[in-house]
Amino acid sequence: MYIFKAGVVGAGTMGGEIDQVISYSGLPVVLKDIDPAMLDRGMATVRKIYQGRVDKGKMSATEMDSKMSLIEPTLSYDSFGDVDIVIEAVPEKMAIKKAVLRELQAVVPETTIFASNTSALSISEMSAATDRPNKMIGMHFFNPAHVMKLVEIIPGLETSQETIDDVVMFTESLRKIAVVVQECPGFLVNRLLMPYLNEATYCLQEGAATATDIDAAVVEFGMPMGPFTLMDMLGIDVCQYVGDYLYDEYGPRMTPAPLFYKLVEAGRLGEKVGKGFYGYGGETDKPVRDIIAAFGRDPKSEFSVERVIYPLINEAVLAVQENIAAIHDVDMAMIAGTGMSYGGERKGPLAIADEIGLDVVLDGLNSFYALYGERFRPARLLRTKVRAGHRGVKARRGFHEYA
Ligand SMILES: NC(=O)c1ccc[n+]([C@@H]2O[C@H](COP(=O)([O-])OP(=O)(O)OC[C@H]3O[C@@H](n4cnc5c(N)ncnc54)[C@H](O)[C@@H]3O)[C@@H](O)[C@H]2O)c1
Repeated sequence: MYIFKAGVVGAGTMGGEIDQVISYSGLPVVLKDIDPAMLDRGMATVRKIYQGRVDKGKMSATEMDSKMSLIEPTLSYDSFGDVDIVIEAVPEKMAIKKAVLRELQAVVPETTIFASNTSALSISEMSAATDRPNKMIGMHFFNPAHVMKLVEIIPGLETSQETIDDVVMFTESLRKIAVVVQECPGFLVNRLLMPYLNEATYCLQEGAATATDIDAAVVEFGMPMGPFTLMDMLGIDVCQYVGDYLYDEYGPRMTPAPLFYKLVEAGRLGEKVGKGFYGYGGETDKPVRDIIAAFGRDPKSEFSVERVIYPLINEAVLAVQENIAAIHDVDMAMIAGTGMSYGGERKGPLAIADEIGLDVVLDGLNSFYALYGERFRPARLLRTKVRAGHRGVKARRGFHEYA
């Protein structure tokens, strides 16, 4: 099905950005909210992104006007009668999402695809609230959507292949990288990131290294920014919420570091309030150092880059083992979604594991498991690969094959 017109519901942080991405591709798009102030804010976001391009000489003012004219901001569903796809970007509450989907099905054509930008909620559950579960799909953009290339495409239990194909094609027409991910808590990128962010937080809490040192070591390894810089940007409250959710769903290997709760209790929610792991403006990180001192130094805890990266690699292996995504897709999603690299080349976790040697990663996980427990239990597929001699680049076979 060709998509001639799109709708976006919710003009907040994500809705405004998604609207810009769609209009930039040349497609007309209706942007709906219930709050006129948020609608204005959403349109201001779009205008600011385009104005930035004009200022940099990447676009003429006339082009900007023509792109802006593709967007119709509205408080009603009047212009939704001919949309081919609707992306909902309303707050992350299942009840609100379901209510919006029910409203939509009364006003859009029967063929319209329902996409949700949810970060974590179940697409299958949402689809059950509609009259078209075969047309319901997750379309998870990353923030800021006008910059981030990755879109995770999440089919629910009843999503048709045709819907998946249409949405992949639509995503590519937006000049984004579409990676199909089977429904699982955290989808792919957040599921893989959280064990890494969590382990870095354990290292800090246990006094094994400072936030600055951990960040620097991880950047040296190949991440575009360190875990604490990233968590301050994401919001510590958001990290705690996602951490709790993944712990509920996956169990002990995702046990959140207690330091998250202490920071949230202390109101250190990250850059948005001027203080998180680091202090910004007039704030310092002294209160965080005091909290860490109160935990006491854990003498058996040591920081190494492997200690924080191996849980991410192990989770990537678990995702492959569960058929959540194909091997190449896991690597591509992590490159596009996080900017991972290794040895100066853009590489995802499975390709990195191949470079390090799967036997080396497995030995490392086993040693960490002996010291720190469940967070490091090696994935069964990793053990199987090593037993089969698929040790990575040096054996010409690991997760990938090498000539
Ligand atoms: N913010 C992020 O970094 C991020 C990243 C990826 C995905 N997401 C997901 O995107 C979705 C939106 O997140 P956000 O950060 O943009 O939220 P937000 O709070 O910034 O915006 C939500 C918008 O929805 C509007 N809204 C509320 N109820 C509505 C209704 N019934 N009909 C129409 N509009 C309604 C609100 O007025 C608001 O403008 C969530 O599911 C979130 O999990 C967020």
